[in-house]
Formats: sequence, structure tokens, C-alpha cells
Amino acid sequence: MGLIVVLLIAGYAYLNIKYPDVGEAPDLKITASPEMIERGRYLANGFASCMDCHSHRDADKFAGPLIPGTEGMGGVDFGEGAGTVIAKNITSDKETGLGNWTDGEIFRAITMGVDKNGEILGPMMPYPLFGKMDENDIKAIIAYIRTLPPVKNKIPEHELKFPVNLIFRTIPSKPDFRKLPDKSNTVATGEYYGVGCKFCHSPAEKGDVIPGKEFSGGVEFPGLKGGIIRSANISPDKETGIGNWTKEQFIKKFRSYLEPEIVNLKVNDGEFNSIMPWTFFASCSDEDLGAIYDYLMAQKPVSNKVVKYEPNGVLQQ
Ligand code: HEC
Ligand code: HEC
Repeated sequence: MGLIVVLLIAGYAYLNIKYPDVGEAPDLKITASPEMIERGRYLANGFASCMDCHSHRDADKFAGPLIPGTEGMGGVDFGEGAGTVIAKNITSDKETGLGNWTDGEIFRAITMGVDKNGEILGPMMPYPLFGKMDENDIKAIIAYIRTLPPVKNKIPEHELKFPVNLIFRTIPSKPDFRKLPDKSNTVATGEYYGVGCKFCHSPAEKGDVIPGKEFSGGVEFPGLKGGIIRSANISPDKETGIGNWTKEQFIKKFRSYLEPEIVNLKVNDGEFNSIMPWTFFASCSDEDLGAIYDYLMAQKPVSNKVVKYEPNGVLQQ
């Protein structure tokens, strides 16, 4: 018994001393050009979903568009079963945001999962995915978030349950950057931009996508107006997926979320309201949405009929 206790304490101390294992923040000074800021804005509000998670969404409107004035202020809890993990304030406010962080510290947080003080971030902040992007895109995102007007909003530190608090310590790691694929290779471009799609649309076990089930949907989320929403099957299966959609239909579906009839649609409690970030992706270019379509069509069709909405469903955690 005594031995077990000693081993447990030693193990606990080991995890706390050895991890996180990412080293100092890089010495980095980003010189932002207007093109770079524009590139960062495009990614942060689109495929990288920074603004989706770090702002407030209006649950009373269809597909929960961003509430103007809340850009980057944080405050939404992504902890689910792991504890309380509230998205941080990433505006330029000096006290409660990133105003006093160096570029290197922000770079390390986004790509390696460690904050200014060397404390770990929960992986609900998807730094393991951002660490596989093009380094220049990360710098562009930093250039853009530096332009977010300061909002004073103090976010409490996360509170993680045992044993996730220890497991999470081992996840931060050095990034493994890749290059943005050449535009002419649409499938590779679609894969690059489609990381978030894969994350929400593929059933997973312990954080890893179940092989053979990629893009088959059925992943459960709390609905913006109650109930359970399940992600759609977006594999190229003709009956249960989107195999019968043309590229034009696919792009149009996204684009329709910019139309006033949809943007201003009110949603009441208990009605279907999707967490799919339609309004965020609606401004992505035809070229990039088309590349995602090509990438999806290059996947294996998986037959899986998804019931998208269960009004009285309660999420199992
Ligand atoms: C799926 C939701 C989600 C997405 C997408 C997301 N974040 Fe986060 N982010 C979080 C959460 C939650 C935290 C808090 C983690 C914690 O406290 O353990 C966080 C923390 C951070 C921090 C640390 C701030 C601090 O004060 O410690 C930075 C910086 C950050 N995010 C920037 C970004 C940027 C830039 C992007 C886009 C490239 C992004 N995030 C995308 C959810 C998200
Ligand atoms: C935060 C999770 C999330 C992300 C990220 C996400 N989706 Fe979805 N998606 C959903 C959910 C939930 C639904 C089902 C509800 C709905 O149709 O709005 C859905 C529905 C869809 C549909 C409708 C299919 C149909 O049969 O009507 C398409 C197409 C789609 N997503 C494509 C994508 C693509 C492409 C991306 C990446 C650019 C993406 N999604 C990213 C959660 C997500």
C-alpha cells in the first residue's frame, strides 16, 4: 500500500516536472503587412474557427452568427466532461487579453498549447491541429488578432478534473508545420482547410477518428436552442451522404447563409438550431470551398443515416 502511494506521488511529480515539454517561447517579431492581416482575418473567421470559439454566437438566430462587438473576448465554456475550460480573451486588452504577450508567446500558445506563464492549455483549444498548419498562416493569424479592439473581460483559469489534468499535461508538443499546398492540387488544398470539418464530422474514440468512419457524421453536440444536434454524413455516399451533390450545390449551400432571409431568421427555444459554423464559412472563397468539395469526394463513401436533431435529447458526457 505504502509503495503504491510512493509510486503515485512519484508519477504525479514526474508528470508535473517533465511536462509540458515544449521549451521557451520562440524569439519572434511579426512585421504585419495589410495582405498578411487580411489572410489572418480570412483564416481566423473561417476555416481556423478562432473567432467562432473566442466570440459569442447569437443562439436566437439561425446557425448562431457572431454577435458584433464580442470578437475575441472569450467566455464560452468548452470543458464538457473534462471540467471548466473557458475560451480566453484574445483581444489586444493589456490586462485581460493578449496585449502584453509577445508574438512568440502567442505563437507558442496557438501551436504548442502552453500559455504565457508556461501553463498548459486544454486541447479543446485545438493547438495540435494548428501545429500542423503552414507557419506563415499562423503568423498571419497573429497579425490579425493583434488588430482586434481591446475588450476588458477577465476569464478564469481552467479547472480540470482528475485524471484529465495529468493527461492534458502530456499533450503539448513541438509543432510539425507543413506548407500550404499548391492551389492546383485541390484535394490537398481541401485537406488543409478541411481539418475542422473532419473533426466535427467524424466519429472518434478517445480523441482519435475511428478508421473507416471518416466524415460519416453522427457526432453529437448540444443544440444552440436545446436538444441534441448530430453532424451530417458528408462522405460521398450517394444515399446517406452528399455523394449526389454537385460542387455548385455544395458552394451554394454555404453561400445561402449570407442571404438576409436566412441571416435574420429567428429561432425559438426547442427548435433546431445548428452549431455547424455556416455563417463563418459562408464568406470563404468559391475556390477553397470547391477544394474542400473535391477533397470530400475523394474520400471513401460510408453508409450511415444520421438523424440530425433530437429535440428532447440530452448529451451523454
Ligand atoms: C474549438 C474552440 C476553439 C478554437 C477553434 C480556438 N480556440 Fe483558442 N482557446 C479555446 C479554449 C477553450 C481556450 C482555453 C484553454 C484553457 O484554458 O485550457 C483557448 C485558449 C487560447 C489561447 C490562450 C490564451 C490565454 O490567455 O491563455 C490563445 C492565444 C488562443 N486560444 C488563440 C486561438 C487562435 C488564434 C485560434 C485560431 C487559430 C483559436 N484560439 C481557436 C478554444 C478554441
Ligand atoms: C463545430 C462542428 C462542425 C464543424 C467545424 C463543421 N461542421 Fe458541418 N455540420 C455540423 C453539424 C452539427 C451539422 C448538422 C446540422 C446542420 O445541417 O446544420 C453539419 C452539417 C453539414 C452539412 C449539411 C449536410 C446535409 O446533408 O445537409 C454540410 C455539407 C457540412 N456540414 C459540411 C461541412 C464542412 C465542409 C465543414 C468544414 C469547412 C464543416 N461542415 C465543419 C457540424 C460541424
